[in-house]
Amino acid sequence: MAPLERGLAVLRAICASPDDAVRPGDLVRETGLARSTVDRVLSTLTRLDFLRSDGRAFSLAPRAMQFGDAYLAVCGLSEVLEPLAVRLADELDESVSVAVPDGDGVRFVIQIPRRRTMTLSFRVGDLLPAERCAPGALFAAQWSAEQRARWSRRLVGSGPPRMFFPLPPAPDGPTPQEVESAFDERANAAAKEGWALDDQLIEPGLIAIAVPVLDRADGRVVAAVSVVSHSSRHSADSLREHALGRLRETAARMQEALTGSRLQTEPHRASGSGPGPRVASSAPAPIDEPKRDLGPHYLRSLARGLAVLVALGSKRGGMTLSAVADVTGLPRATARRALITLREQGYVDCLDPEGRLFAPLPSVLELGYARLCGRTVEDLVRPHLLELSRQVHESASVAVLRGSEISYVARVATSRIMQAAITVGTRFPAYATSMGRVLLAGLPEAEREARIAATDLRALTRFTVTDPVVLAETLRRVAADGYALVDQELEEGLRSMAAPVRDHRGRVVAAVNVSMHAGRVEADHAREVILPALTATAARISADLAAMGDRLDGAAA
Ligand code: PHB
Repeated sequence: MAPLERGLAVLRAICASPDDAVRPGDLVRETGLARSTVDRVLSTLTRLDFLRSDGRAFSLAPRAMQFGDAYLAVCGLSEVLEPLAVRLADELDESVSVAVPDGDGVRFVIQIPRRRTMTLSFRVGDLLPAERCAPGALFAAQWSAEQRARWSRRLVGSGPPRMFFPLPPAPDGPTPQEVESAFDERANAAAKEGWALDDQLIEPGLIAIAVPVLDRADGRVVAAVSVVSHSSRHSADSLREHALGRLRETAARMQEALTGSRLQTEPHRASGSGPGPRVASSAPAPIDEPKRDLGPHYLRSLARGLAVLVALGSKRGGMTLSAVADVTGLPRATARRALITLREQGYVDCLDPEGRLFAPLPSVLELGYARLCGRTVEDLVRPHLLELSRQVHESASVAVLRGSEISYVARVATSRIMQAAITVGTRFPAYATSMGRVLLAGLPEAEREARIAATDLRALTRFTVTDPVVLAETLRRVAADGYALVDQELEEGLRSMAAPVRDHRGRVVAAVNVSMHAGRVEADHAREVILPALTATAARISADLAAMGDRLDGAAA
């Protein structure tokens, strides 16, 4: 097995784990690889910043979104179809999703959630077995005999394992034969009627209706758009009455939009150029360089293979071997070997019958994208706060601005006796806190003034700044300095220091702070020792936020 294959096996095992952080021993068990191999793969993936480690366990880093991004950028479906999916969700006031066929599975590429009832919710990148959802019946109608055979092998448990979303077991455990005949019936009906229902196939309560989105040139089903509801609002029949008309209109608009954009959505298509080549947004990371300091703990061919996969996202319409070699800076023979392995592993295919144009397949979304999409801001910042708190031996927090207050998003407290009773969701007046000052200072001048004018500046201690003119001047200084130090203005004995966290557009979206006992830590020590650790943490959180873009769970809220 080549290092690239071993690396992908380890990455898959991490993504499939029920836990966010996985120990090497578990990976040895899951992959069957030798401990020394797993260790080398882990040190390589960590060095490339696809993984992070707390010293014992390993978890996905935001950079691992790059694999899924490569597919999404090239297929372009989310970009073209998302506005139409959003519109449908608004019209019907129900969840809407778009999925693409992925072998005998259904892979989501768009999710517009509107969930009011407790049901499983899927994310971009999640894979469902075709027989357990509405889009599956639509896709199966076009399966080849070979695909059909692979699916029935999976039903009896003899196919290669696939990373499906972990669903509850199907009700009253039908036999594979029963599943097969029921699904054939649904697939035939779907082909005839042009829609398919999921009446609680996934779990009790969840119902969905889907229609196909066709490629007008050849009639291929390239995607399915679904409306998802709950039995407390609709029966399967009433959902069909309520949603089918609009769903069909939306699918027709989607087909038109796809025709207009001439996207490449599937292999073996004539090469049409998409809307211009997309150039990779960031410079590719040095692939070979870490070999010098990591030696045998750096698997260069794994790093190179992954660089090839990421590079495939840099151009629509597929890339030739020479283009891949160009973008990655790798020798052609090396790029070629990586493409062959990636193709064998089911992550890449050729768009043209001659086998010249390579493009990533939807399954690359299983390499981290689906898992990372489910992360919340708290999940993202927590490891950074743990590290900061470990470095400075004080409590650390992240908060966002809500009106004229700050609201805590995450907090890691040291175990000292004197501790403010702060939890996620706790609010404090922004004007008297270091995080509030950093957040206010990050606002445009006019908005900053408006928020101060709307706030009742009360003295919370004898040190609180309550003069709006002094406060405005303080905020200007905070903006210029890039941090705020607040001394006992919220509570006597409490000193706190904060730095801004920025999003990928450079806007201040959160603040990170260290809070300490005023009697124990001098302000000078805070500036000299704590400030560098604090600003470094703020920069790392900002970089992770930028890598996640607006794909963090709840980011749209
Ligand atoms: C979903 O988008 O959550 C969804 C779509 C179709 C189904 C089930 C769930 O059949």
